[in-house]
Amino acid sequence: MPDLIGIPREVLPGEKRVAATPETVGKLRVRNLLVQIERGAGAGSGISDAEYTEAGANLVDDAYLGANAVFKIRPPTLAEAARLHEGALLVSLIQPERNPGLLEALKGRRATPLALERIPRITRAQKMDVLSSMGNLAGYRAVIEALGLFQGFAGGQVTAAGSSRPARFLIIGAGVAGLAAIGAARSMGAEVRAFDTRAAAREQVESLGASFLEVAAKESGEGQGGYAKVMSPEYIAAEMALFRAQASEVDVIITTALVPGATAPKLVQRDAVEAMAPGSVIVDMAAEQGGNCELTTPGAVVLHHGVQIIGYTDLPSRMAVTASRLFSNNIANLAQELGKADTLVVDPANEVLRPALLLVHGKELPPLPASPPVTEKRVLPLPSARPAQNHLTSPTRVAWGSTVGGIVALVVLFLLGRFAPPDFLQHSTVFVLACFIGWQVIWSVKPALHTPLMSVTNAISGIIVVGGILQIGVSANLGTLLAGAAILFASINISGGFSVTQRMLRMFQTGARSLPPTIGGAP
Ligand code: NAI
Repeated sequence: MPDLIGIPREVLPGEKRVAATPETVGKLRVRNLLVQIERGAGAGSGISDAEYTEAGANLVDDAYLGANAVFKIRPPTLAEAARLHEGALLVSLIQPERNPGLLEALKGRRATPLALERIPRITRAQKMDVLSSMGNLAGYRAVIEALGLFQGFAGGQVTAAGSSRPARFLIIGAGVAGLAAIGAARSMGAEVRAFDTRAAAREQVESLGASFLEVAAKESGEGQGGYAKVMSPEYIAAEMALFRAQASEVDVIITTALVPGATAPKLVQRDAVEAMAPGSVIVDMAAEQGGNCELTTPGAVVLHHGVQIIGYTDLPSRMAVTASRLFSNNIANLAQELGKADTLVVDPANEVLRPALLLVHGKELPPLPASPPVTEKRVLPLPSARPAQNHLTSPTRVAWGSTVGGIVALVVLFLLGRFAPPDFLQHSTVFVLACFIGWQVIWSVKPALHTPLMSVTNAISGIIVVGGILQIGVSANLGTLLAGAAILFASINISGGFSVTQRMLRMFQTGARSLPPTIGGAP
């Protein structure tokens, strides 16, 4: 008997997303899995019941009834957990630390909950990472929400009626959401500055055209595996001073600072808010984890000294059509880890599933090997005091080697100059100069641009086309044939080179907006 998957309507007020689209239902049906959808579940995301039935799902009033598995977005309420079929698989955000009693309720149903927020951020699992897909969306939306309340233009304007400077944005925390916010604000012409405790964020921030701010305090923000760590009180104080000074200059602050498993650090204090010009806007994306701004009210907009502080906790849901599509794609990708046939199989040895697996049939699994605490200071490898001499060649031997090599090269050049035919000398001079110029050109270009550069240099094959054209008229049959073939292949090489270059450059343009894998909080 195939497994039956239930897709309920989200019960959290204002939550418009849904955990399956007709497209992902189709993917499950291909495996012959059965899907039942609660009537109206897709309404908030613009998906009608009829579209689900066309994709092969059954419409029901209670998606939990008889379902071996339930796919949803938000953590289940205790009432929802109680409706789970005994022994069912639950795939959703679960966040047990923020939902007291939930784990006990799931144990009571002998459930197998897979917590989407705990899917590891490894390359193989990127396509299942809801924190990244939702963080990206939320960062973009934060800019839109900010501009919706801000009374000025994002980009600079020069008109007959007067000119305006570009809006100035400060983005605190350059993880997934922060980078998306930087990209969105920059694309609208705003001037953006950003800050993150991880030094690695600098390059990403700068590649998006924003400037990276620094604090005087020196402390590495990178914890275990390059993820963020909780900073010392001295460092946080230095950050607050920086943001206080910045506050009088910027129009919009978007805060996304978070360390997984910790409450959001308070970084923007009352005096910083009061230093902002009236009409400025703060979007506190960490509102749900306590907020980065002292004055944030989760889920609401508050006005303080003419500054609007947005504490929305439903940013992805405000773009429900896209958010549902991406979230359900993440879940459909995860379903591929749950076997291939018409039953869903949870393998606790699977490296993607294991960290997310809170219980198996209501039973806790043995704890995973502990990773070092996030507060741990990263120990940077220091250069050892003495170089390992056994790996070095003696300096005297190196000097002798170079001298002898130089003498041999001079002798060879002398002999060539004396005895080689003039043609050979001319060609070898061109060859040596070409090597030198080629070397200089290639090494002056960033390695990332080597492929587009090399594909453009395919155009050098143009010389073959010229040669072929010259030969086609004068050679005999075979020569004409070969010249024709040469022209054909050289033309393919040239046009192919240009199209590869175009594709690569397009990739760089979109790649600048792609986001690094880090761990985050609740989307
Ligand atoms: P992330 O983990 O990718 O990024 C957080 C960044 O904050 C990291 O780069 C980290 O280095 C940085 N950070 C940590 N401590 C800092 C400090 N003291 N100062 C400056 N930077 C610091 O997380 P992601 O996905 O970017 O999410 C960011 C926040 O947005 C989270 O709180 C998440 O829950 C929230 N979020 C909110 C949504 C909403 O609707 N309001 C929706 C989606 C995400």
